[in-house]
Amino acid sequence: MNPEVLRARLLAWYDDQARDLAWRVGPAGGRAGVRQDPYRVWLSEVMLQQTTVPHATPYFLKFTARWPTVTALAAEQDGEVMAAWAGLGYYARARNLLACARAVANDHGGVFPDTEEGLRGLPGLGPYTAAAVAAIAFDRPTNVVDGNVERVISRLFAVEAPLPDAKPELKRLAETLVRDERPGDWAQALMDLGATICKPKSPLCGRCPVALDCAALATGAPETYPRKTAK
Ligand code: ADE
Repeated sequence: MNPEVLRARLLAWYDDQARDLAWRVGPAGGRAGVRQDPYRVWLSEVMLQQTTVPHATPYFLKFTARWPTVTALAAEQDGEVMAAWAGLGYYARARNLLACARAVANDHGGVFPDTEEGLRGLPGLGPYTAAAVAAIAFDRPTNVVDGNVERVISRLFAVEAPLPDAKPELKRLAETLVRDERPGDWAQALMDLGATICKPKSPLCGRCPVALDCAALATGAPETYPRKTAK
């Protein structure tokens, strides 16, 4: 596999096939280096952590209509935000959401830090979310690895080590594909590929833009990756 060829193929597919998701549009904020509104990117990533895109989307639209900026969210009463969150589950996330919004509003003048490191300093904002917001909102070349991306990487490289032990190896392999060029699109292209083509049980390899680069497909049984520890 040639990483540059693989990247070019997947990014071309993303240019053509990117999902039309609510948080991929909207005001970019007007600051140099901001390509998508960091508030919307952050909110969508928090909502999507344990929830599917179809389930999270109406909540995302409701939240952004009611609280269009992080400052507006930060000023809301806890009970109102918790009530609006009802149905998304994992209420600790809603509490973390408010703690983070208030830190941005009170300690950062309502402006999200624009680096992975700066974002990691915010309360309730974990390593995945920091990497995702840095890449998607600010085009920083971070390594954004969620469960979908782990599956894609495990297949591209036919990683034989089982999950969860393989996680560090998958992260390291994912890193080898990150470049300064289009990191936000790259992160989302991997996510979209995992969600729409490189599915867990029945991957649609016939429609995959990187099928020629896929070591798991070459074995004839791509759906058997990622390997799992026998129960
Ligand atoms: N899942 C989590 N974040 C996502 C994003 N930005 N695009 C698509 N799927 C996602």
